[in-house]
Amino acid sequence: MQQFKIEKMDQKHIDDILQIEELCYGAHHWSKDSFLTELNNKISSYKCIINENKCIGYIGFWKIIDEAHITNLSVHPDFQNKKLAQKLLLSMIDECYKEKIKYITLEVRISNKKAISLYEKFGFKSLGIRKNYYQDNNESALIMWSENIFNKNYKKLYDRIKENIINYEENNNK
Ligand SMILES: CC(C)(COP(=O)(O)OP(=O)(O)OC[C@H]1O[C@@H](n2cnc3c(N)ncnc32)[C@H](O)[C@@H]1OP(=O)(O)O)[C@@H](O)C(=O)NCCC(=O)NCCS
Repeated sequence: MQQFKIEKMDQKHIDDILQIEELCYGAHHWSKDSFLTELNNKISSYKCIINENKCIGYIGFWKIIDEAHITNLSVHPDFQNKKLAQKLLLSMIDECYKEKIKYITLEVRISNKKAISLYEKFGFKSLGIRKNYYQDNNESALIMWSENIFNKNYKKLYDRIKENIINYEENNNK
């Protein structure tokens, strides 16, 4: 039975994280210093998903007044397609609810169909493009936004996704 728990990111996770960064983003991944800086950034929140004492995925976001800006979401390739990114996004949204943050935004490469469909699942809509946003290959970024997550309809969507994840975990632990 595989167990996954979410905890606040800490310096002790950085070695695991750098391995995932390289596997997910190749040469153009975040450096150790970027993560250390983010861990000391007062507006940041970073969470890891843990399996057998190893960090196997993480999400980071900035909290700016009533908006959350996702800066990073990555899952180790060996653990992808197990709904762990969805678990991390739900945990981020929980924090937004607690801290009265209404809107969530992010940039994603226009070629990253999987991530885009994941964010669409969470009701995020693309509201613009930042041309040539990524320096490695000049790729453009899609800018995606949630609606106000306190809206009744959004809460229903959030509850539905949460229920799906609970059912998925129960079925996989039988
Ligand atoms: C994007 C990423 C975070 C998703 O993590 P994950 O744990 O595999 O995602 P989940 O299993 O929670 O959800 C995947 C969802 O994506 C969608 N999806 C899966 N494979 C897909 C594909 N080939 N094409 C389109 N959509 C796909 C489905 O909606 C799926 O949800 P479902 O299983 O409920 O149907 C992960 O693939 C990753 O780390 N990629 C590299 C880094 C990256 O691109 N990060 C995003 C930066 S914005």
